[in-house]
Amino acid sequence: MNKKDERQLKTPYFDKLKEYTESKPISLDVPGHKLGRLNNELLEYTGPNIFKLDANAPKGLDNLSKPKGVIKEAQDLMAEAFGADQAYFLTNGTTQGILAVIMSVCRANHKILLPRNVHKSIINGLILSGAIPVFMKPNIDNSLGIANGVSVETVREAINDNPDAKAVFLINPTYFGVVSDMREIVKLAHEHEMKVIVDEAHGGHFYFSDKLPLGAIEAGADLSVVSTHKTIGSFTQSSVILTKGPRVDHNRLEATLNILNSTSPSGILMASLDVARKHMYFEGPKKLNKLVEMTKTARDKINQIPGIEAITEDYFLKKGEFGADKSRIIVKVSDLGITGFEAYNELRDEYNIQLELAETHLILAVLTIGTTVDDLKGFTEALRKISEKHLKENREPIHQKLTYNEPIYYMRPREAYHGYKKYVPLEEAANEVAAESIMVYPPGIPIVIPGEVITEEIISDLLQYRASGSTILSDSDGYLIKVVDLEKSGPEED
Ligand SMILES: Cc1ncc(COP(=O)(O)O)c(C=O)c1O
Repeated sequence: MNKKDERQLKTPYFDKLKEYTESKPISLDVPGHKLGRLNNELLEYTGPNIFKLDANAPKGLDNLSKPKGVIKEAQDLMAEAFGADQAYFLTNGTTQGILAVIMSVCRANHKILLPRNVHKSIINGLILSGAIPVFMKPNIDNSLGIANGVSVETVREAINDNPDAKAVFLINPTYFGVVSDMREIVKLAHEHEMKVIVDEAHGGHFYFSDKLPLGAIEAGADLSVVSTHKTIGSFTQSSVILTKGPRVDHNRLEATLNILNSTSPSGILMASLDVARKHMYFEGPKKLNKLVEMTKTARDKINQIPGIEAITEDYFLKKGEFGADKSRIIVKVSDLGITGFEAYNELRDEYNIQLELAETHLILAVLTIGTTVDDLKGFTEALRKISEKHLKENREPIHQKLTYNEPIYYMRPREAYHGYKKYVPLEEAANEVAAESIMVYPPGIPIVIPGEVITEEIISDLLQYRASGSTILSDSDGYLIKVVDLEKSGPEED
């Protein structure tokens, strides 16, 4: 065992937390359940250990706002496992990390280049920072009705048109597993003195297998936010920021994190980060390679089922994408004449299978090292039955295209957020300036963001989504839309 492996065997935060709770302290601090002494149904269901680990900030367990002890040690091990310089634990998800990195890199009126298919947390980062978004058009796949990666050419053009931009923001990979040429884009951005920030909500496992695309930090990015809870195995809401290289302003990042952090970060979440890191470091490479094989076998079987198609990496390569995550399964179901939403509901209601998401044409299964061969057999069998049932109905295939609406920028998201507002019915919102993000969830990618003009096309897309039964998320309810009252609103001062 080499020195690095020896270090990675440790779980300093988890060990200290166990030591503390097993010392059976007289708890005169918070939390109020006193490490499980209030009996309730949750304790009866889970047993006492969850409560015992839910300590707040006792002496010896370090402080997330300025870690110097076991949290720092655990973060350093996390950074080492990912090949990063530093890691910052997050207990409010990748959302918190995205807000922090955008706010630490961009001040008001700084430009940031970013693909249009970003998650809503990025848009909220624009509101908080006051940055100006310059959107890059992602590659559109009309056959699947999804937006994919951005080409190097698109990024080059955006950089040339906006040489004053501070940062390039990328997604590695998209929700559907598609990656852009991260290495080339990082090189290009750095040549132009721009930082590279990456949303790796779905890419944490890349770092632990050579059968998967490159992790952003491995490709030279400055900052990446990883949803360890999605693909590494830590608890929901635990995530991590990774940094590498000389361009990162750690002081500013730490100050920003301390604005966004709770002063009572969950010990359970931090312990789960510590333990999941160790598990992934030792088990990940072997198990991920096995997962890639299992996924291929399942995909091949699904592709023998009439009327449905499991999308392969080759499919994306042929479409001109740079690469794709081989450990996800996208199944196109719309040739059966059913939408992904119908298949999603049928799988849940009739086969007890919970998918990650559905779109008009497809369903998406997220697989991890926790996935078993039996899970994939059950999924394949259910798809076979769904195919049999719907082939009998002889429905027309669905041909709905993804209408990508070129965003029309009117004002900064922050300005729209702070401006005077009025509410108008969705059907009557054409040519108004949105004061809120409107999106279908999942995947939570905004169709319009604050500061953009709402066009007829956007309204028609939203009406279609609403008719198909998708959940439309907005601050209002998807019927009344919050827009900027331009008659009242004046320019914002920041
Ligand atoms: C692409 C992408 N980015 C960011 C996030 C936010 O992550 P979290 O839920 O950990 O806050 C998500 C969540 O689904 C996501 O899919």
